[in-house]
Formats: sequence, C-alpha cells, structure tokens
Amino acid sequence: MKDKMQIKIFDTTLRDGEQAPGCSMNITEKIQLARQLERLGVDVIEAGFAAASKGDFQSVKLIAKELQNTVVVSLARSVKGDIDKAYEALKEAKHSRIHIFLATSDIHLKYKLELTEDEAYAQAVDAVKYAKNFFDDIEFSCEDATRTDPQFIYRVLEGVIEAGATTVNIPDTVGYTTPFEYYEFIRGIMENTKGIEGVDVSVHCHDDLGLAVANSLAAIRAGATQIECTVNGIGERAGNAAMEEIVMALKVRGDEYGADTKIKTTEIAKTSKLLTHITGVKVAPNKAVVGKNAFAHEAGIHQHGVMKNRATYEIMTPESVGFAKTSLVLGKHSGKHALAQKFKELGYEISDGELQSLFEKFKNLADLKKEIYDDDLEALLIGGYGEIEGGYRFMDYTAFTSDGKQAKTVIKLQYQGEEIEEVGSGDGPIDAAFDCVGKIVKEEVKLKSFTIEAVTQGKDAIGLTHVVLEKGDREIQGRGASTDIIKSSILAYINGINRLKMGGASEE
Ligand code: KIV
Ligand code: ZN
Repeated sequence: MKDKMQIKIFDTTLRDGEQAPGCSMNITEKIQLARQLERLGVDVIEAGFAAASKGDFQSVKLIAKELQNTVVVSLARSVKGDIDKAYEALKEAKHSRIHIFLATSDIHLKYKLELTEDEAYAQAVDAVKYAKNFFDDIEFSCEDATRTDPQFIYRVLEGVIEAGATTVNIPDTVGYTTPFEYYEFIRGIMENTKGIEGVDVSVHCHDDLGLAVANSLAAIRAGATQIECTVNGIGERAGNAAMEEIVMALKVRGDEYGADTKIKTTEIAKTSKLLTHITGVKVAPNKAVVGKNAFAHEAGIHQHGVMKNRATYEIMTPESVGFAKTSLVLGKHSGKHALAQKFKELGYEISDGELQSLFEKFKNLADLKKEIYDDDLEALLIGGYGEIEGGYRFMDYTAFTSDGKQAKTVIKLQYQGEEIEEVGSGDGPIDAAFDCVGKIVKEEVKLKSFTIEAVTQGKDAIGLTHVVLEKGDREIQGRGASTDIIKSSILAYINGINRLKMGGASEE
C-alpha cells in the first residue's frame, strides 16, 4: 500500500477564530488553549496578529515562549512595521513562522488597497525579502485568492517563493469557491507556478456557503500540503473550516484522499469542549464529530443495529475522538490527588494553588450533589474562572421573591479586603441581583446576553451561566457555575465585571 501523504494542520483558532463575535479570549485562556492544541498535535498555531494590539502582541509572545514542539505564527501585513512586531513577539519561540498577507483580487486592490497589480506584486515580494532578515520559515497568503486572476496568482507566488517564502497560502477569504472549482484552481497553481514543488501549499477556507471543509479536502486532492482551520469551525462570519471534520475525514476516508494528519484524535473532544467553555459559544447538537448528538442513535432500528454491531451505523467511534461516556467519577471521600488526576485525564493542567481552591469547591459540591460527573468537574473549573485575583469576590446572597411582586436581592461581596453589602430590586431575583452588583461595582454596563443551562442531568445539576456585558464598544464575557442558579448568575456577572476591570489580551 502506498504511504499516505502527511498533511500539516495549521490551527488559526487563536487568530481568525478569535476574530469571531463572542469568541475573544484573554491571555490566560489563550495560553490554556494553545497548550491543549499542542497536546492535540497540531503542526502550526497561529497565535495572533502581533501588530494588531498590545494584547495580541503579548499573547503571541507568551505562547511563543510556552510551546515546545509546535510552530508558533504571527500574522503580519506586508509592511515593515508589522514584520518587526512579529519578530519581536516571536524571537523567543523554539519554532517560529511569520505569516505575511496581501490581497490580490481586483476588487480588494481597487477598493481596499488602491494598488495596481504591479504595485501589489512589488509590495508582496519586498515584504518577504525583508522578513527573510529575521525568519527562515515564511508563509505568504494571497488574500481573496479565489477571486483573483489565476495568472496574477502564479506571478505573485513565483515572486514570493523566489524571495524566500517557504509556504504559500491560497485563501478562499470570502467562502466563494466550490470543491470542483477550487480543485482546478489549486491544480492550475501546481502546474503553472515556478518553484511551487519546493514549498508547502496551504489552503484557508471560509464557510460562507457551508463548503469550507469540502473545499479544503478538494485542495488536498489537488496537491495542498497544509490546511488552515479552527476548532469547532469558529471564525469570521460563518467561520473557518472545522479542524475536527477535516482530521476525521482524512482518518476515516484516508483511502479516498491518500492523506492523513498527525493529530491525536482522542484529544479532539477535549479541545472542542475547552474552547466552548472558554468562549461560551456552543456547537450545534448535530455538528459533525463534536456535536452532542454526533454519536447518538435515536431511531429504534438504528439502536438495534448498533447493539449487534456498531459499524452498522457508526463510521467512527466516539472513543476515537475522545468522547468517553459521562461517567460517575469521584465521590465525597475522594482525595485531592484523585481530583488532580481526574482533571489531568480530562485534559486540564491545574496549578497547586488552583487545585486547593478547586478541591474545596469539589467538597462543597459533593455535599450538595450525590453523583459527580466529568462535566460537573469541568463546570467547577469554569466556576473557578469567576475569581480573578484582585477583583470582586462573592461572599453571600439572600433573595426575596414572590409571584407578581418586585424581587429584592441582598448581596455581600469582598473587594480588596473590604466587605460590601447592597440591596437591589428587579423583576425577579436575578434581575435584582444584577441591579445589586451594579450598585456595588459602580460600573455602567449593559447586559447583552444571558444564558443558563444545566450541565448534567438531574434536579441537582450544576447551572452554568454565561453573560455578555457591553461597555462602550467593548464586549466582555462572564461565566459562573453553581447548583444554585441565582448564585451561578451572580458569579457570572461578577466574573464579567472583574474581566472588564482587570482586562485581558483581546479585551483591552
Ligand atoms: O481569510 C483570509 O484570507 C485570512 C488571511 C489573512 C489568510 O484570514
Ligand atoms: Zn481567514
């Protein structure tokens, strides 16, 4: 049998993904996700766009220092200032790459850049030549490539390859192409571009027509060697190609594509869940590979078949992507060591300090809840995010509520060693609680969205609250978790306020 081609996975969850509404992350969260992506085995991580903001610069720098095996990338426009910033942010990385881009389509050249083709060509080639002073590993992207005259693409690619680019990327920036067309387009590049055989050919597809994964796979058939994608398919507008779908398509249908990746597929579910927990952006239940129902068999006839032989209706197993049955894990008598071990199995790295406070929460939870599942432990961890050092700390609350009457909620918080108590009123206890927190923190914020969901089954389930707060042009998320939904809501609100006050990479 012929050896399968090894496709490089370039993950851009922390850059293109993070640009999506509601998906911003602070530095701590980005580092946590970057570590998980390294465990997952992605080849390349685009950590951010160093020149875009101080927060972006800082997160690229910290991720670059943190990762050992993965290539860390910063995006840069084709200008010296961006290239300098990317170098500054990446210089301590074990393996670094700069990703330079310039739009090449007529519409972008005319209306956005106001450049002629000759000027754009010169700018692209000069940028790569300049970057060569600092980087060996250089990727160049022709933004909006799929709406660019192929002859111009060949010319730009030849120019940047000669100037030192080691990967060339052909993005479908607006999600416009189709699998057959993209296949032909990439074939055209392979056949007409001098020097193309010596570099990696990358594709980067957006999902505006729901074709990002299909287009990426078509590109592999045409000779692409690197796929740019995001966890859960998050990204600008309709998102980017979903990494888990591409990886599993190659795993399950490697015969068809003659290609595979080096992704450790059993880490996929964990990575997907971690991203959902961090951003609060959920995946659809029927989402391929990582949706809640992706492996659920409802119809009796299917259940019957699966019980006899899983392969009747399952083309891959839930275990192969890291879904274990939500199992009863720890109990009232479990110790700290067992808890640490369980978090490790679930893919979370916990510092000794965090473990102590998590253990206390675990014990409290074990008093309230008879059965503790993996999802409960993950929710505990998220609840832990509620406490930001130096920020407000929840102490206690009392709610007074009855049908048809104004509710009142009294809340006690601690701030910089001082206890503050206030009373708020509203349409229900949660509205009253938010009124009360608002009085304590004296911040004018608008509650843009509020969701609460039960983490596991049963009436003693943990309620997970997610809020989005708006202040001026900033949007801040907050999360809280508790078996008591009023408390969970207060924790989420305080978490949002603390994040607003203390800042974070993308929230500055
Ligand atoms: O969609 C796109 O074209 C991009 C480039 C910067 C690669 O994200
Ligand atoms: Zn993109």
